Parts: sequence; C-alpha cells; structure tokens
Amino acid sequence: MRMKLNDIGIEYEVYGPRTGLPIVFIHGFPFNQTMWKQQVEALKGEYYVITYDVRGHGKSDIGDGHYTIELFVDDFIKLLDYLKVQSAVIVGLSMGGYIALRSFERHPERFRALILCDTRSEVDNNDGKIKRANQIKAIKSNGMKDFIESFVPAVLFEKTLKSNERLVNSVREMIEETSPLAAAGTLLALAARTDTTHSLFNINIPTLILVGKYDSITPPSTAHAMKSKIPDAELHVIPEAGHLSNLENPQEFNKHLLAFLKKLSPR
Ligand code: MLT
Repeated sequence: MRMKLNDIGIEYEVYGPRTGLPIVFIHGFPFNQTMWKQQVEALKGEYYVITYDVRGHGKSDIGDGHYTIELFVDDFIKLLDYLKVQSAVIVGLSMGGYIALRSFERHPERFRALILCDTRSEVDNNDGKIKRANQIKAIKSNGMKDFIESFVPAVLFEKTLKSNERLVNSVREMIEETSPLAAAGTLLALAARTDTTHSLFNINIPTLILVGKYDSITPPSTAHAMKSKIPDAELHVIPEAGHLSNLENPQEFNKHLLAFLKKLSPR
C-alpha cells in the first residue's frame, strides 16, 4: 500500500487483526521491508503487524536523495499517525534501530515496547565516517556493484555465505534494487546521526535486544553495553547469525520475539 508522506510516497504493508497489539518493523540499510517476511508470518495470526520501506529504499520514493535520521523519524511518526497507531511495539534492525532510538528520544509516548536488533546507540568514529565516505565515492563512480562485493560478506555470517545461497542472493538483490542516489544519501545520514547513548537510561518500557553471535558490524559486546544502560532490558545472542540475525536464524530470532511479546499485556 502507498501513502503520500511529506513530499514523497512511502510503501507500507499491514497484516493481521487491527485489534491486535501493533508491532512496527523498521528495516536496515540498504534493505527493505521484505526482510521481515518470516517475522510477519510468525506474528500476523495474533498481532497487527506493520512494515514499511524507509524513504529511498524498496518501493518508497527516493525524493531528492538528501536524507537525515531526523527525516526518517519524521516519516516514521507520520506513518504511525496515518495508520492511527497511538503506540506500538517498535522493532528496528541496525539503521532501523538508529531510527527507533531517535524516535524514542523525540516521541517516547509512541512506544509500547522496544526491540533493538543488531544495532547500536553510538555514532560512527572517525574510521567509520571515512569508511562511509569511501563507500559513497565507490557508489558514485561504480553504482552498487563494488559496494555489494564488500558489504555482503560483512553483514552475513561465514556459514550463511557458504551454505545459504538463497539468502545470500536475496540479500544481494535487495541491495541491487537500492538506487545509488538513495544509498549515498543514506550513508551520509548514517554518518551524521546523533548519539543516543545518554537516552538509554531513560528507556522505561519493556526492551528486548537481539544480536547475531557473529555480527561484526554491531557485535554482541555493543549489545551488552546497551543492555547495561537500559533498565531491565533483556538480551539474547542469536547463534549461527551475523548482522542480519532475523534472516540468518529466523527460528531462534522468532522464538525470542514471540516469548517477549507474550509477556506484554495487550494494551
Ligand atoms: C544497517 O544494516 O542498517 C547498516 O549496516 C547500518 C550501518 O552501517 O551503520
């Protein structure tokens, strides 16, 4: 489904009973809402599940290609308003986690619970910023081709790369479908994001942290550091998974997701 948001069209999908507890999924970079397929299947019988394509990703419009995390948060809150969702369980993976954490700082009242997957609260250090600059340069001169070759091995666990060709291909396809203009614009937004670490202490809602055991981009040590700052947060390390834990080990990921949701009261 499509919604005119601010200056552009945003693609979104809703599943399950409208009377169910709303769960909103925010995908990582440079992916799209289809990455949540297996979570949607597991939840749609009972919950009101919402997925969407962040501006510049999937089937949402690219706009002018100039992005900030603030703009992604504006879009996200407008989507909740449009769908008349007062508060929801908000799930964000990696970039989706950055958007969720900044949304929590700006609009804590929209959160019923928070699920942070393979993400962090800190900003990029200098090496990280320089890496983004080099990725932007490569994308501008060569499109997504070289970026894919270095990014795919970085986000997936070695065993996934060797033994799950179908998943590797679908991850490659999601990246290939992302326009170079949008990818470069998002990399700049990621490099310019604000640090949300100080706000972790204020998270007073049920929080679940999930991280792939072999996540090299936002490793388990980063997840443990977040857990130590969020009062009463629950953390699970997902075995046999890298940075895309929901795709690489959906059984284990969904097991923790469902158990966490079961503990929440309906509204
Ligand atoms: C993501 O998966 O969203 C990205 O890896 C985030 C990042 O590069 O910081």
